[in-house]
Amino acid sequence: MKDTADSGPTTDTPPRARLVLQPVDRIDTDAQQRVKLNSTRLGETIEGKANEPISSEASPPGNYNGPGGGGGGGGRGAEFHKRVGPQDFSQSLKNGMAAVRHNLGYVMVMTCATNLLILAIPIYLFQISDRVLTSRSTDTLVMLTIVITGAVILQTAFDAVRRFILMRTAVEVAVQLGSPILSAAAAASLNGSGREYQTLGDLQQLRGFITSGTLLSFLDVPFAPLFIFAIYLVHPDLGMIVVATSLVLLVIALVNQRTTAKPFAEANLAQSKANMHLDSMSRNSQIINALAMIPEAVAIWGKDTAASLTSQVRAQDRNIISSAFSRGVRLLTQIGMLGWGAYLAIQGEITGGMVIAASIIAGRALAPIEGSIEGWNGFILTRGAYGRIRTLLQNSKLQFEKLRLPRPEGRLDVERLLFVPPGTKQVVLNGLSFQLNPGESLAIIGNSGAGKTTLGKMLVGSILPTSGNVRLDLMDLRNWEPRQLGENIGYLPQDVQLFPGTIKDNIGRMRRDATDDQIFEAATLADVHQMIATLPQGYETMVAADGSPLSGGQKQRIALARAFFGNPKLVVLDEPNSNLDTAGDKALARAVEHARRSRISVVVITQKPALLDVVDKIMLLTDGTITLFGTRDTVLQRIKQDQRARKTPPKPIGGQT
Ligand SMILES: Nc1ncnc2c1ncn2[C@@H]1O[C@H](COP(=O)(O)OP(=O)(O)O)[C@@H](O)[C@H]1O
Ligand SMILES: [Mg+2]
Repeated sequence: MKDTADSGPTTDTPPRARLVLQPVDRIDTDAQQRVKLNSTRLGETIEGKANEPISSEASPPGNYNGPGGGGGGGGRGAEFHKRVGPQDFSQSLKNGMAAVRHNLGYVMVMTCATNLLILAIPIYLFQISDRVLTSRSTDTLVMLTIVITGAVILQTAFDAVRRFILMRTAVEVAVQLGSPILSAAAAASLNGSGREYQTLGDLQQLRGFITSGTLLSFLDVPFAPLFIFAIYLVHPDLGMIVVATSLVLLVIALVNQRTTAKPFAEANLAQSKANMHLDSMSRNSQIINALAMIPEAVAIWGKDTAASLTSQVRAQDRNIISSAFSRGVRLLTQIGMLGWGAYLAIQGEITGGMVIAASIIAGRALAPIEGSIEGWNGFILTRGAYGRIRTLLQNSKLQFEKLRLPRPEGRLDVERLLFVPPGTKQVVLNGLSFQLNPGESLAIIGNSGAGKTTLGKMLVGSILPTSGNVRLDLMDLRNWEPRQLGENIGYLPQDVQLFPGTIKDNIGRMRRDATDDQIFEAATLADVHQMIATLPQGYETMVAADGSPLSGGQKQRIALARAFFGNPKLVVLDEPNSNLDTAGDKALARAVEHARRSRISVVVITQKPALLDVVDKIMLLTDGTITLFGTRDTVLQRIKQDQRARKTPPKPIGGQT
């Protein structure tokens, strides 16, 4: 037995962590390669990468010895000192943004070419009216037509290419930032509310903006001066008209931004609240139906959605008005230019062809300005989204490389543990200190609300204490390499949630390298093999997100096996028997007994006395403080004395303890 206990299957570099880390590192190097990015190579470069991280990076050679090697429980002494590279999220952000800038460089070149070639048609017009028609030369006309046709084809090609690049840039952003954002969000939810997961939606917004027409308008705007200069060359008067119009459009854009920013922000806030509510509705769908809460739930969602729509309408109204103004101004400008141009032509200062050419160029100069105004909301949204992405990635603590320690023995030291939930003044855990030797089992008892669950979460590092330490084998949990810590810890939460997948996957913690032996071993250790055997598809039974088709007790027992998967050295079980029948209770007691024999330290939080028979120590928790702690017999005796004291009123309880 000792053999199995000591030989952990789990010290090799985990493939799933790589999966998260890898895309970041890999693409970083690919970004350099992509310096060679050109129109012909586009397809194979970025697009090819979009699907890569998941499929091909799952088992990077060299770091991880393949699915077979990970299993079976062979001790991996050779893996000692193996490190996982640091996960620098702000670096990922920098890489992602560098890639965007880099690609935008190419897009700018294309945009420059496109905008220059746009001048082809006005020039054609200009030449026809001023040269061809006056000289009546067919040869010139043919030559001109050929050249201009070529220019127009080139222009459309360049325009297409810049759209291709933008599309791939969007994919690249998604690839480069997706994994870091999800990792950072998952890590940040340790201290936060889990709202960080919504940042993945922000990434979608960012991606959408990159491919939007608004960005193209933004990119085209810098070329407006060029066009205006061209018009100026035709005639300074016409140039002045366009300059004046541009300034008016700029003012409209500024006013538009001022007037719409607030309502758009309100709309977006209300929308995200509505989305959050929708999310919680989907998670609580059964309660909503059972308690006939549909009207209330819909009403809450409706309130937020209505608020969002109202603000949206207000903002869009203003936006539409601004757009109408800018379009009107633009059209009036063209009339003005044609009219004044005609007057100038009458005066003999310019020709008719020049007038029309100038008018076309003016349209080209002003269109992007108008497009920018129309797409302003998208820009605001994206700016906000990018801000959230940046905050998340930059605020995520740099995961320093951590020493991979030898497998822990399971010694637990808790020192002056204090927990005051962020934003409250309530002391949930008040300076707890205790110690558990390797292989010992401890039962934590106490009233509901005493802080048992909170303590349990702290023992496994799923929440961080306000102050104080939890140490596993003398090392603070925060200083363990997280994956290694996770492999050596088993946890059964109070409200069990299984992942959608098979029972096998769930017991194996969704790890791809989980071997059948390990899963069977965990199932036996948790004494659930028999229960699983009675299910129609056995270990291959599919579990839905809500746990169906398993009953509450069955779910709890599967989660118990999950806690024991991979031979952890410390297992924390939070009310593992709350849903269990007598058979389940017995199985649980056997599991704890078994764990003790395998020298697994077990902390079991319980309200039922049945489990107390199999543990070494008992802790009585009252309002966040330890009232009793000691070996089973002493504590039980104390409690009995207390109870007897309570039955004989004259003797105060305080005197007993
Ligand atoms: N994040 C939190 N914010 C505010 N109060 C909390 C938080 N976590 C726990 N508490 C409070 O701590 C107390 C103990 O909770 P818990 O550990 O779940 O008790 P037990 O598991 O012993 O029934 C409860 O009064 C609960 O309201
Ligand atoms: Mg609890």
